[in-house]
Amino acid sequence: MFPRGADIRLVSGHPEVYEPCDDSFALVDALLADRGNLLNHQARFCMEIGCGSGYVITSLAIILGKENSGIHYFTSDINPNATSVTQRTLDAHGVHAEIVNTDIASGLQKRLVGMMDVIVVNPPYVPTPEEEVSCEGITASWAGGYNGRTVIDRILPVVDELLSDTGWLYMVTLTANNPSEICLVMRRKGYASRIVLQRSTEEESLYVIKFWRDGVDDVQDKDITSSSLGLGSWFGK
Ligand SMILES: C[S@@+](CC[C@H](N)C(=O)[O-])C[C@H]1O[C@@H](n2cnc3c(N)ncnc32)[C@H](O)[C@@H]1O
Repeated sequence: MFPRGADIRLVSGHPEVYEPCDDSFALVDALLADRGNLLNHQARFCMEIGCGSGYVITSLAIILGKENSGIHYFTSDINPNATSVTQRTLDAHGVHAEIVNTDIASGLQKRLVGMMDVIVVNPPYVPTPEEEVSCEGITASWAGGYNGRTVIDRILPVVDELLSDTGWLYMVTLTANNPSEICLVMRRKGYASRIVLQRSTEEESLYVIKFWRDGVDDVQDKDITSSSLGLGSWFGK
């Protein structure tokens, strides 16, 4: 039996920090579904943007083998309470990561440019009035602005800077975020994509999408079809 991620009983909490929920579990389940590829990937540097409780980054470290891997983990959150909660969650599992209280990866970008082999993101994706996006505390966990895309659209170019040539991004999205358009944005940057996991709850339809560079430069819109994006027709709905 291989390790299935962080022990939820050891995940720390705070009233102003996002508690692991369906989207967090979907992201970890997607990592487990892609575990074979992740182990073969021989990652050296991994990162989570928006760590919240630390459940996902801790799970990633456990899935990849925390004792022997020699992998360096980084994680960021704009909410200072999240960084201290994440520290406690990591400690409770005997995992080490460099935790930074910052906006996306601000202050880390120069140092880490082109280095990340794996980046995981469960962003604030809920469509909300734009003014809620800059709110502090727990609101920052979910407030995604217009179509839930405001923070996502700021994260994508940063991820493009941070990923190594062979790096992978796993990101949670919602139907309302227009995932096919997100794939198109990334396609223009030279990334292929595929859905690793789709999950419908009573409230939302979640997709965990994996992105990787496929060596395509200068992609023209006419070259892009839903099949070249690896998407089913439901994505266009
Ligand atoms: C949906 S929660 C996910 C938390 C955790 N990764 C999980 O899956 O349980 C989104 C997280 O992103 C953080 N966040 C929101 N905007 C951010 C930003 N601009 N930079 C860094 N973190 C941000 C929030 O504080 C919150 O912890």
